[in-house]
Amino acid sequence: MLAAGVNCYNVALVRLGSGSIVSQGAYLCTASHDVHKPDFPLLARPITIAADCWIASEAFVGPGVTIDEGAVLAARAVAMRDLDAWTIYVGNPAKPVRKRSHNALDLAACPTRKTVGVLGARLEDYIGSQRP
Ligand SMILES: CC(C)(COP(=O)(O)OP(=O)(O)OC[C@H]1O[C@@H](n2cnc3c(N)ncnc32)[C@H](O)[C@@H]1OP(=O)(O)O)[C@@H](O)C(=O)NCCC(=O)NCCS
Repeated sequence: MLAAGVNCYNVALVRLGSGSIVSQGAYLCTASHDVHKPDFPLLARPITIAADCWIASEAFVGPGVTIDEGAVLAARAVAMRDLDAWTIYVGNPAKPVRKRSHNALDLAACPTRKTVGVLGARLEDYIGSQRP
């Protein structure tokens, strides 16, 4: 899911895995220029974000970067190199600060899951009651 204000500059392909979230103002930048050549040619490389990642607000992901499953890129961090799975990265350039538990996304272990289920059922009832 891409939040409002994400800049998805897809000169090359941007792949987003299931369950991954890109938050407000993040920049997915697939293109640059070769600054070592006089004609300043465009360089475009794909960005791949695997499943269950979080690219936080105003983070920057550069051309050719692959972000492995479950990784987190913190707010305003800059990723110009690949990020490892289930790892949290902060800063510019982004550096790993800690691992993220695989259980982070285990909904069965989530205490609010039941509440969400109840709310979902009520919403279904409400929608049903509004149908002619
Ligand atoms: C990365 C994040 C999820 C925190 O993860 P966490 O595992 O709870 O990490 P912590 O808060 O314990 O921080 C770990 C270290 O990274 C640093 N850090 C955390 N976020 C950082 C950031 N965005 N930039 C720089 N450093 C950061 C902390 O200061 C801490 O450093 P220390 O160990 O020297 O004290 C959170 O800081 C973040 O960036 N959230 C995104 C917010 C956002 O985008 N919100 C809008 C959409 S809802």
